[in-house]
Amino acid sequence: MKKTIRDFELTGKKVIIRCDFNVPLKDGKITDDNRIVESLKTINYALENGAKVVLMSHLGRVKSVEDKRKNSLKVVAERLGELLNKEVIFIPETRGNKLEEAISELNNGDVLLVENTRFEDLPNKLESGNDLGLATYWAKLGDIYINDAFGTCHRAHASNVGIASLIPSGIGFLVEKEIQMIGDVIANPDRPLTVILGGAKVSDKIGVIKNLVNVADYILIGGGMAFSFLNARGLEVGKSIVDEASLEFCKEILTNYPNKVILPVDVVCGKEVNEMAKATTKLINDMGTADIGLDIGPKTVLHFLQYLNKSNTVIWNGPVGVFEINQFSSGTKALANILANLDITTIIGGGDTAAAVINMGYKEAFTHISTGGGASLEMLEGVTLPGIEAITNR
Ligand code: 3PG
Repeated sequence: MKKTIRDFELTGKKVIIRCDFNVPLKDGKITDDNRIVESLKTINYALENGAKVVLMSHLGRVKSVEDKRKNSLKVVAERLGELLNKEVIFIPETRGNKLEEAISELNNGDVLLVENTRFEDLPNKLESGNDLGLATYWAKLGDIYINDAFGTCHRAHASNVGIASLIPSGIGFLVEKEIQMIGDVIANPDRPLTVILGGAKVSDKIGVIKNLVNVADYILIGGGMAFSFLNARGLEVGKSIVDEASLEFCKEILTNYPNKVILPVDVVCGKEVNEMAKATTKLINDMGTADIGLDIGPKTVLHFLQYLNKSNTVIWNGPVGVFEINQFSSGTKALANILANLDITTIIGGGDTAAAVINMGYKEAFTHISTGGGASLEMLEGVTLPGIEAITNR
């Protein structure tokens, strides 16, 4: 068991909280503040308990001076200040006198945000390379380290694994909830457990399928990856995405788990992938050589519904169609609607699936929507995440 923020006396302590404020930006504005909102519980707990809070996060990937200009956390400090309804002191630096002085001047219940940790990636990848010198410098800025950046837990960087290895550390409420809702549910699911997998490529999900095929009762496959499985079964899939390198894997899975892995029975096809494309629904046996499969069809939704109706837990990772284009979004919308209305445990993986269901207005309708894309995928693969592993044991 890992220590959590509740295991520490926080009053008067400088508490470094690593958040994942890697939020989408458009023209310098935050387009989805979900990750900031989900961090509030831990930040508020630390503030209410009299900590001097030092927040750290990355934002985007920093490979050039231009990336630095685009990826300052200033905009996050402003939004966080609004959400906390208090001043967030923003230091536009990742090290140096200004940062050290500002931290030494913090009073109990104050909160400060350090500039994007990945500014340290230019030029020598000190943050992403988990440089010991950088981790040691940052660790000296605090007394206690709390990792609440679930979305970054699959990375071993200086601002998570590095600092956690050097000072007393614990996880925050967000990481704790993600472990309970994904890790613990897979370890001990309320059965039947059904997993819906979508997304473009089988190769991205091989680890997940290998792990979950032993854990889940049913795996429903949609999205681009369904066409590799259909092709592996010998069907014509036209110009749909086929992940040639994964075809043998698909054949093996279909042979070994014929009643567990469930494929679409009809698909919505187009001849091109754009807003103008005409959508035609076809049974999977009727696809022509020019067809591109871009969504699951209505018969598949009903077919999947039979499995969802008898499940007690559903985990969904990956949209089942090109949901960004209206005429190919019905399958993803229908599944979101079905799951939102089932009175069972429903867990949505991070990344595209989370963005899709939140955009549809279902933020409150599921048991859990993960804040981590790659991190939730690796947790579904059964991999131990380095950001969690580095935290002090109880
Ligand atoms: C994410 O958005 O998945 C996390 O913030 C990690 O970002 P990264 O893939 O750039 O490391």
